[in-house]
Amino acid sequence: MSTIQLRTPIPGPKSRALSDRRAKAVPRGLSHGTPIYVAKAKDAWLEDVDGNRYLDFAGGIGCLNVGHRRDEVLDAVKDQLDHFLHTCVQVTPYESYVRLAERMNEITPGNFAKKTIFINSGAEAVENAVKIARAYTKRPGIIAFEDAFHGRTMMTLALTSKTHPYKAGFAPFPSEVYRVPFAYCYRCSYSLKYPACDLYCARHLEDTFKRVVANEEVAAVIAEPVLGEGGFVAPPPDYFKVLVELCHKHGILFIADEVQSGFGRTGAMFASERYGIAPDILVTAKSISGGLPLAAVTGKAEIMDAPGVGGLGGTFAGNPLSCAAALAVLDLFERENLLARANELGDHFQRRAREWQSRWPIIGDIRGLGGMQAIELVQSQEAKTPAADETKKITQYCYEHGLITITAGSYGNVIRVLVPLVITSEQMDEALDVLEAGIANVCGQKKEVPQLV
Ligand SMILES: Cc1ncc(COP(=O)(O)O)c(C=O)c1O
Repeated sequence: MSTIQLRTPIPGPKSRALSDRRAKAVPRGLSHGTPIYVAKAKDAWLEDVDGNRYLDFAGGIGCLNVGHRRDEVLDAVKDQLDHFLHTCVQVTPYESYVRLAERMNEITPGNFAKKTIFINSGAEAVENAVKIARAYTKRPGIIAFEDAFHGRTMMTLALTSKTHPYKAGFAPFPSEVYRVPFAYCYRCSYSLKYPACDLYCARHLEDTFKRVVANEEVAAVIAEPVLGEGGFVAPPPDYFKVLVELCHKHGILFIADEVQSGFGRTGAMFASERYGIAPDILVTAKSISGGLPLAAVTGKAEIMDAPGVGGLGGTFAGNPLSCAAALAVLDLFERENLLARANELGDHFQRRAREWQSRWPIIGDIRGLGGMQAIELVQSQEAKTPAADETKKITQYCYEHGLITITAGSYGNVIRVLVPLVITSEQMDEALDVLEAGIANVCGQKKEVPQLV
């Protein structure tokens, strides 16, 4: 039996009524990928207030790698509810925070002593990583990449690349942020081809130190091992080794922002492992706690201890419910082979997407690592003109037919897969059938527009 069950036209009457109330009560700046209001969710599906059931390729933007409302996570949270809700770890600490830090120090890449601090969100974690890197190196500069996304607070907006809708209108941003091209091979900033390029984009950092910012002024280079919001761009396998070596040569720290790529998404616990690197500082959030707000900064012990006593923290930082949930998530990763499943799902997606690409030239690029997969849509394979309108039409087709998807990319022309890794094979095919129909539909319409055929 299919999981997708649509009982009303989408969005249904109750969702539409809520959208009207929302328009009056909530600022427009908070956008919604779909106009569907959720009533409940489990594993890889969610149900709206009108009783329509969808498959979920968004997973709360990558927060639900272990699935919606896993029993183990719920049990851990319920148990914590019976004890205490909040004390503030800076006033009266609790064991679960320490235990979670110990486990994070064990499972993150790098055979060295580590320490971990917990905070509330990915952006807050990036902010803390920058504070720690500056405190340790006593240098101000941070180098970030084109197409990077690191959050919506002022410092993380400075690090984030995409102008609209994230940055435009919110300047001035904090200074001492420098931006360089990323290893986005499909749209190489230097018009080179891997491997003949010999990773020019990584090696070019030496040039940046001469022409943009002096290396002795740079505290850290921050990168997402696989771009999230920037379009699921996975650099070539040897890229990060070269980059990290270059950083270390100049006493610069390497910060991996694994907020989206972490916790099994790429088929390893952390994408850094797939690149054979051990970041000096690793930033995580999203899927760390199975749907509750939590983020972590894990790093070499001596780096993490650079800020003075009281220099780090926050009222709700590492709250007990989120810590309990995160411990349950780590148990789930130990018990279930979610990493292998991420790879299987990724391989399956790639197979189907390649078949679509052979039929429809709108699919310019298929890429990703493990279960972090995407297609980039273009109006012409040669010119690679981004097909943003078509991408929107496909995602709209998808949610109207029972599949929640989200877009990505600086040009808004990427459809990304962040499906909970517990989706069954039947559900995955059901979802991909909808996506395929959405692409076919848009391609059918395009036949009427000669220049796009
Ligand atoms: C790579 C990356 N870093 C940071 C963030 C910011 O996380 P948050 O929205 O929890 O502040 C995100 C959010 O999408 C992200 O994908």
